Amino acid sequence: MKFFVDTADINDIKDLESTGLLDGVTTNPSLIAKSGQNFLELIPEICKVVKGPVSAEVAATDYDTMQKEADKLAKIADNIAVKVPLTEAGLKVCKNLSDNGTMVNVTLCFSAGQALLAAKAGAAFISPFVGRLDDICLDGLDLIADICTIYNNYDFKTEVLVASVRNPVHIIESAKMGADVATCPPNVIRQLYKHPLTDKGLAAFVEDWKNTGQSIL
Ligand code: E4P
Repeated sequence: MKFFVDTADINDIKDLESTGLLDGVTTNPSLIAKSGQNFLELIPEICKVVKGPVSAEVAATDYDTMQKEADKLAKIADNIAVKVPLTEAGLKVCKNLSDNGTMVNVTLCFSAGQALLAAKAGAAFISPFVGRLDDICLDGLDLIADICTIYNNYDFKTEVLVASVRNPVHIIESAKMGADVATCPPNVIRQLYKHPLTDKGLAAFVEDWKNTGQSIL
């Protein structure tokens, strides 16, 4: 499973990139607003830090303006994935860009039918929002299972990018289903390192080693 970080915070992106475990970045207009940064300056900077796909989202909702924005974003760097909403206009833009070899991430997916349309439009990534479905008392992971099954049935190349991830369980359960990517807030990626028995075991090893009086270096 690939790990993308879902943030527009360049410091978090640099920190996670330094682990060697980061495969890409996703941003959205809300994350850009939260960062307080200039979108058209920030995205090229992120694309230099991370070699994998960097999702940059259009702001327009009508087809003509969305296509112009998408064309502009696509030119920023080779690793840009233009992010479009799962609407009729968004999927038309997706088809145009995909036909020309640009990666497209179709976002705001909440149903298997929507995911099927995005795959047919040639999306490189489909982003089903697990956490936001959980928030309204539906099981977001059921949607991941359905999309993985459907994409496998037809051998679609579109990658399942699990989005709106809120905790490590979302990641592990999606990985068991064979989802291709999880895009996670920085704190959720960092939670994956953690286990109380690791902390406890390490503390005992450190203490016992100290008692030997030895040094490796
Ligand atoms: C995905 O690309 C979105 O940016 C993101 O995962 C949305 O997550 P949220 O529901 O926590 O805002």
